[in-house]
Amino acid sequence: LALCVVLPSVAMADTLDEILERGSLRVGMEPGYMPFEMTNAKGEIIGFDVDMMKRAAKAMGVKLELVSTAWDGIIPGLLTKKYDIIASGMTLTQERNLKVSFADPYIVIGQSIMIKKSLAGEIKSYKDLNNPKYKVASKLGTTGEQATKRMIPKCTYISFETEQEGVMDLVNGKIDAFVYDLPYMELAYKQKGEGKLVLLSQPFTYEPLAWAIRHDNPNFLNWLNNFMAQVKNDGTYDKIYGKWIQD
Ligand code: ARG
Repeated sequence: LALCVVLPSVAMADTLDEILERGSLRVGMEPGYMPFEMTNAKGEIIGFDVDMMKRAAKAMGVKLELVSTAWDGIIPGLLTKKYDIIASGMTLTQERNLKVSFADPYIVIGQSIMIKKSLAGEIKSYKDLNNPKYKVASKLGTTGEQATKRMIPKCTYISFETEQEGVMDLVNGKIDAFVYDLPYMELAYKQKGEGKLVLLSQPFTYEPLAWAIRHDNPNFLNWLNNFMAQVKNDGTYDKIYGKWIQD
């Protein structure tokens, strides 16, 4: 009995080839995370990641397509090819890196804590929140949630679908603290916190943010890393950084 197996002779295409053939770069992002991706009054998605991806698409000579997606499905969406890349303020974690490949990080941030003003005297760091009497919240599926569960294990943890709801409940006094990425918190504090909340702005985790792509795309990864090195050194990155982040 002779079995004949026909092996396909075409090489697996790298995502970079698909982008060039299609003529567009598809970017997955969840636009609730200022200043990296957010929706303006006209309903357009704007932000740091958006500007960087505009530059990347331009350098590739293709159009940019933004694909708005829910945070908890953002990695599955990449794996099922709904987009080519995730540019969504995603922290490079060892756990996520098992499923996706990350380009070189574009910024390092950390978790910070915003508390009700009435707690300013008793809460000086995340450690002081480690007590079941404190209601501490973050966002579902984020590193803020992971850090809270790991580093403040005894608090009463509450999970929100969106950053905005968490901050609202803090302003309304329904929770005691909100844990989240510092750049977001600085803006949330400016918009909603003055006089009502206190921001403990000393980051207590180390989190590089990076773009994620599917594994096994050496050409695309190489392109992204060299693009990053270029813009970081030719002034482009600093211009975009200065536009969205004021130190
Ligand atoms: N850096 C955090 C994380 O990776 C939060 C990112 C949230 N991004 C967003 N577009 N909503 O978990």
